[in-house]
Amino acid sequence: MNETLERWSTRRAFILAVTGAAVGLGNIWRFPYITGENGGAAFLLLYIAFVLLLGLPVMMAEIMVGRAGRRSPVQSLGHLAAQAGASSRWRWLGLFGAFTVFCILSFYSVVSGWSIEFLVISINGGFVGASPAEIGAGFDAFLADPARMIFNHTLFLIMTMLVVSAGVAKGLERLNNLLMPLLYLLLLLLAGYAATTEGFGPALAWLFLPDVSAVTPLVVMHAMGHAFFTLAVGACALMAYGAYMPDHQSLPRAAGAVAVLDVTVALLAGIAIFSVVFAQGMDPGEGPGLMFVTLPIAFAQLPWGALWLSIFFLLLLLATWTSSINLAEPMVATLQGMGLKRGHAAAIVGLAVWLVGLLTVLSFSTLAEWRPMFGMNAFELVSTIPPEIFLPLGGLLIAIFAAWVMPEAAARRALGVGPGGFTLWRGLVRWVAIPLTLVVLVAGLA
Ligand code: PHE
Repeated sequence: MNETLERWSTRRAFILAVTGAAVGLGNIWRFPYITGENGGAAFLLLYIAFVLLLGLPVMMAEIMVGRAGRRSPVQSLGHLAAQAGASSRWRWLGLFGAFTVFCILSFYSVVSGWSIEFLVISINGGFVGASPAEIGAGFDAFLADPARMIFNHTLFLIMTMLVVSAGVAKGLERLNNLLMPLLYLLLLLLAGYAATTEGFGPALAWLFLPDVSAVTPLVVMHAMGHAFFTLAVGACALMAYGAYMPDHQSLPRAAGAVAVLDVTVALLAGIAIFSVVFAQGMDPGEGPGLMFVTLPIAFAQLPWGALWLSIFFLLLLLATWTSSINLAEPMVATLQGMGLKRGHAAAIVGLAVWLVGLLTVLSFSTLAEWRPMFGMNAFELVSTIPPEIFLPLGGLLIAIFAAWVMPEAAARRALGVGPGGFTLWRGLVRWVAIPLTLVVLVAGLA
């Protein structure tokens, strides 16, 4: 297959697209509950360290490979490996990435469907005047109802696949332009409101005063996995977007901007959510329901609560939409590269993801106690193993490919930096990111 000619129309469009991929459930839903389960501040600091030391340099590597190859991930890897005289098996890395995003999308779509449900409830004023206990019970009742969850999961996947089948660059640009600033603004407002509540102080202490005794190899591995997940790195999904990146744009600057935006969204969401947790005497480690219970509680007490809550779930839904489009893109691009029409590829991927997603749906009711591996049920498996093992593994291989296999000249051109910057980036990938990822993975698994 030849090089793609499609490009994001401006530099801003590229940054917004990658931010759209990065900012999603990972920041607003997963970050708070994983931080809660892993003891707070120590986890948070580890996660930020991993974003800087691993996430950023590997993100640059991944986008760089995409920009150098200008094809679907599988084909870019094959093409560049051939240029370097390396094994054509590097293409398998693209397939591994596609498998990873497949697993992730299967639960991502279900949880994004929860936001649809909550959006509808909010618009109908369903949370107004409800007590925290009622809100919690309502969420549990929803989880126990597979039919409602399947309906929302289906709707969300159709929304995603429609955009993907239209071709990513055009459809997404318009959405991203509007969405990110609005989401930011609303989170700022929420965090500002949180600052007026009595939970604010304890929330800050919980998030920023580390308790080092809580750190175990497993906690470190969770933090590393979350850094990859939230930045959308390690599945060749950003590689697919890099293929459409304009030639004359600084890649490090774009990646840096995305990382800053991504981490601040998570911090704002964390501050807002943990303020409610502590004001209400809730358990920070309460798990995947954390955001869906705390935020309605907070908004229910605000004037115009139903309106704010509706806006929030609408923005969350749009943010997860732009992420899931990115999750679907590498699979669709791969099938398209194998000769399928884009629309057909999107339909096949959508159907397969939908089917596997049913396992996640049922993990909250009928199949809750079905634990096929490691004592985890289906939802726990797909929401843990792919983000925490597959993404770091994929990121590791991408890093090796970019810093050791690709010809230096091609890498430097696609990275778009001077000799000094290139040496710095490559040194960071070769001697920090690669060994660190390996050590944490091995220690965590052991
Ligand atoms: N980064 C996305 C989020 O935080 C999830 C994602 C992971 C997207 C991997 C693409 C690839 O919601």
